[in-house]
Amino acid sequence: MNNSTAHTHAFTTTVTEAVLPGVVDPDGIQVRTRPVRPADAGQVVLAMEATGVSFAEQQMRRGKYYDQPPFPFVPGYDLVGRVIDVGEGVPGELLGRRFAALTKIGGWASHVTVDVGDLTEVPESVDPAEAETFVVNGITAWQMLHRLAKVQPGQVVLVHGANGGVGSTLVQLARIAGARVVGTASAKHHDAVRALGAVPVDYRAPDLEDQLRGHAPQGYDAVFDHVGGEGIVASYRLLAAKGTLVSYGTASTRDVQGSSKAPVLKLFARLMLWNALPNGKGAHFYNIWAGRRRLDTFRARLHADLAQVFALLADGALVPQVAARVPLTEVGEAVRLAESGTVVGKVVLAP
Ligand SMILES: NC(=O)c1ccc[n+]([C@@H]2O[C@H](COP(=O)([O-])OP(=O)(O)OC[C@H]3O[C@@H](n4cnc5c(N)ncnc54)[C@H](OP(=O)(O)O)[C@@H]3O)[C@@H](O)[C@H]2O)c1
Repeated sequence: MNNSTAHTHAFTTTVTEAVLPGVVDPDGIQVRTRPVRPADAGQVVLAMEATGVSFAEQQMRRGKYYDQPPFPFVPGYDLVGRVIDVGEGVPGELLGRRFAALTKIGGWASHVTVDVGDLTEVPESVDPAEAETFVVNGITAWQMLHRLAKVQPGQVVLVHGANGGVGSTLVQLARIAGARVVGTASAKHHDAVRALGAVPVDYRAPDLEDQLRGHAPQGYDAVFDHVGGEGIVASYRLLAAKGTLVSYGTASTRDVQGSSKAPVLKLFARLMLWNALPNGKGAHFYNIWAGRRRLDTFRARLHADLAQVFALLADGALVPQVAARVPLTEVGEAVRLAESGTVVGKVVLAP
């Protein structure tokens, strides 16, 4: 067999996958099996070692994700796994190697078919569940910090939801970049947020804005806001003279009835207006999928950024926050836990 187009069908296994059938409670997520399909040209099949529960799935199960896929579908924003099959045109030497992929949907399955161009290699020394906590979270945090806000040593930054998957990664990367970090979180997570290197503030405090101002009287060089809603106004007010607001979600409207797009469009309008003001401040929305129309550039940037995150993980500079490891067949329990407000970091699903 030509090694550059190796095609193995050495597996006669079935896929176990979790399906969102419609708007359901966590225990309404179904688990089903079907035969594995071999990889098509340009693709690989990954045997999943770790996937996870992101905020996106919490919105998707409510039908409230901005880019909501039609039901039924297999959720799963990202995964880590080993290549067990390669399609035509894919080097056979990839077989057996461990990669991460950003999928948006489809990751909650024991076997996942991915375009070869979407693979980022995971260092062999790294535990797959630990790598998994940094795929969507690591790309998002790295790109917001280094590509949008361009945070510099000595700057002071504000991270909302500092115990969350993205938030805990942002705090650590900002500290590594030499910034001072203030992080909002529920009081029960303050020890964990302190351990990550940030000064914690309770996001439910009635005098939240005053407390935040007290920690940075000159204002924040960067504010990272996934909450949206009316709180975004305070995030903008807290900026320093040349500060940058990076908005990247509307978590506060997850449980609000109505359109999934309206809160985001309102937010876009506000950010555009603020960004147009000639006051030296920036206001941006970060979208991990932006620029995908120029696929090669998009992928090159994503691979480079995720590789930097994985290198920091392999070095021990980044400490993975695995909130729990739950079998894929108990996905409902994993979602319930991720939404419970009791966890620090990411709930990881294993086959
Ligand atoms: N724009 C993009 O490309 C992009 C990419 C990735 C993620 N995101 C966004 O990033 C955010 C975090 O995602 P994740 O996967 O890291 O989520 P996660 O691990 O579930 O963390 C969510 C965080 O938000 C807090 N939170 C939940 N509901 C809130 C509310 N109503 N008001 C204020 N804080 C609230 C949680 O605090 P408690 O623990 O106290 O509940 C927790 O700190 C989400 O909004 C997601 O949509 C955006």
